[in-house]
Amino acid sequence: MYFEELKKKLEIEIGQKLFRHSIGTMEEAEKLASVYGCDMSKAKIAGLLHDCGKGTCKDNLKHAKKSAEIARLKFGVKDKDIINAIMYHTTGRVNMTLLGKIIFIADKIEPNRHYEGVEEIRKEAYTNIDAAIIKSLESTIEYVKNRNMVLDMESVNTLNYLKEGK
Ligand SMILES: [Fe+2]
Ligand SMILES: [Fe+2]
Repeated sequence: MYFEELKKKLEIEIGQKLFRHSIGTMEEAEKLASVYGCDMSKAKIAGLLHDCGKGTCKDNLKHAKKSAEIARLKFGVKDKDIINAIMYHTTGRVNMTLLGKIIFIADKIEPNRHYEGVEEIRKEAYTNIDAAIIKSLESTIEYVKNRNMVLDMESVNTLNYLKEGK
């Protein structure tokens, strides 16, 4: 499928607001890929499609897995690294690839994101991507705990894994 076709199809699938966020994530992922020497076309596709299943997924905790499935079935993505980057973009995972790290953090820092502390994470993403992911995971975990929401253990595992590598 040609890239412009992918974009058109995605816009119909997820609606304007999420489409804007997806374009922002795609552009951020491309910039990060050029800085860290990652495959830019993979970063572009993974960034664009990372939330492609969010529109039809009621359970926010499951939208990343759903998006990976839709990327494969509806958008014809076959590349495993792209599929995994989409599948783990909310929690990260142990042994995540560079592409996985880029999509994780691009989603959290793209220009449409506004939350306390985002500027610091934005800067760090371009100098030390692991440290940026650690910061992002720590604030998410704290947010979830403070509100007695369900904590996805995968994010705790990712946090511990990245901290061990420091
Ligand atoms: Fe997402
Ligand atoms: Fe997203």
